Amino acid sequence: MRTQVGIVGAGPAGLLLSQLLHQQGIETVILERQTRAYVEARIRAGVLEQGTVDLLTRNGVGERLASEGLVHEGVELALNGRRARVDFRELVGKTVTVYGQTKVTEDLMNARAADGTTMLFEAADVTPLGFDSDTPVLRYRHGGAEGSVDCDFIAGCDGFHGPCRASVPADSLNTFAREYPFAWLGVLAKTAPPSNELIYSRHARGFSLCSMRSESIARHYMQCAVDEELSQWSDDRFWSELAQRLAPDTQIVDGPIIEKSITPMRSFVCEPLRFGRMFLAGDAAHIVPPTGAKGLNLAVSDVSYLAEAITAYYRTGRQDLLDAYSDRALARVWKAQRFSSWMTALLHNFPDDEFETKLRTAEYEYVLGSRSALTSLAENYVGLPL
Ligand code: APR
Ligand code: PHB
Repeated sequence: MRTQVGIVGAGPAGLLLSQLLHQQGIETVILERQTRAYVEARIRAGVLEQGTVDLLTRNGVGERLASEGLVHEGVELALNGRRARVDFRELVGKTVTVYGQTKVTEDLMNARAADGTTMLFEAADVTPLGFDSDTPVLRYRHGGAEGSVDCDFIAGCDGFHGPCRASVPADSLNTFAREYPFAWLGVLAKTAPPSNELIYSRHARGFSLCSMRSESIARHYMQCAVDEELSQWSDDRFWSELAQRLAPDTQIVDGPIIEKSITPMRSFVCEPLRFGRMFLAGDAAHIVPPTGAKGLNLAVSDVSYLAEAITAYYRTGRQDLLDAYSDRALARVWKAQRFSSWMTALLHNFPDDEFETKLRTAEYEYVLGSRSALTSLAENYVGLPL
């Protein structure tokens, strides 16, 4: 095959990049290891920044988002049972939208399929080659046959474990990583969420988060050990532990749990994000702890910058935006890393010494009582400018 941009990965980053480039008349081919159904079934995050909503809407994938997305004007913070609301609308004049990543992926997948974009699912052994030349190529196997995609550019949208970053010589990149000493136990439950807004709760027993996918589907998380065994968590045990971590007057409605998972907590950044004619975007380039709900939104800002740069190249031959992509994307990534790290430190119990634990509680007490601190939290949570 021959195309202009060969994309590895049909997650939000790869699909959105294809969508944005298609809008500019630029052709892409997407190579995805899994089946379409597998990709669409993955349950992930659910909070879209205002900038993400605006970008999806501007680019033809905002219809269901507009009708099913839940616009939230704030979130609730709770410290050992004491509750305070962070009013985004009042503090920074913006909102976020709760809309599951599975729906974002489905909307993008349907748009790509409707446009007739070539998406090859179950593509095995995808290997980026020649990206340090002007004739990069993606090799792969499909249905037992070898195949290749000759392209002008390769977009590595293949997630944290994908082949693109792994194909860069170790001495050509730097990585920055942090592993947290805990994980998140997440559940999807057929029950009404306890509030019509998200509740982030710090508690001596551990962090918990009450989120949602709709008025009848709750999405809850609790801090747990890195080696937590899902088998140790019956529905009853989950609901009972969650209730202990929330403010006593929180109206938890138990219900059937339809999905359970353990999410490791890590921060990761690769620098740079460009290697000749190959560009990394999304989880292939960085991982944030989910506390700040930044993972999907960073994938969106990466690919919006990359699409702008590739479009400028095809339209005018200019290379400056391609040259600037890595620094531009990384500047926003590190600000999101900062915020996600701060929110994680604010809300979780760490194996600290007593002094550190007292500092964390003082930080939380300060934030709850300071308009400037709440404004800073709000402007980061709703999303810094794209
Ligand atoms: N060949 C082809 N495709 C691959 C390969 C491979 N060798 N390895 C991984 N992939 C695919 C995965 O199957 C997945 O569909 O790349 C895609 C990467 O998608 P994501 O992991 O969802 O990453 P991204 O698109 O950057 O979206 C980031 O997803 O993981 C969440 O929290 C993260 O919300 C954030 C968002
Ligand atoms: C979610 O709804 O999955 C979600 C919401 C907020 C977060 C993380 C996850 O910070």
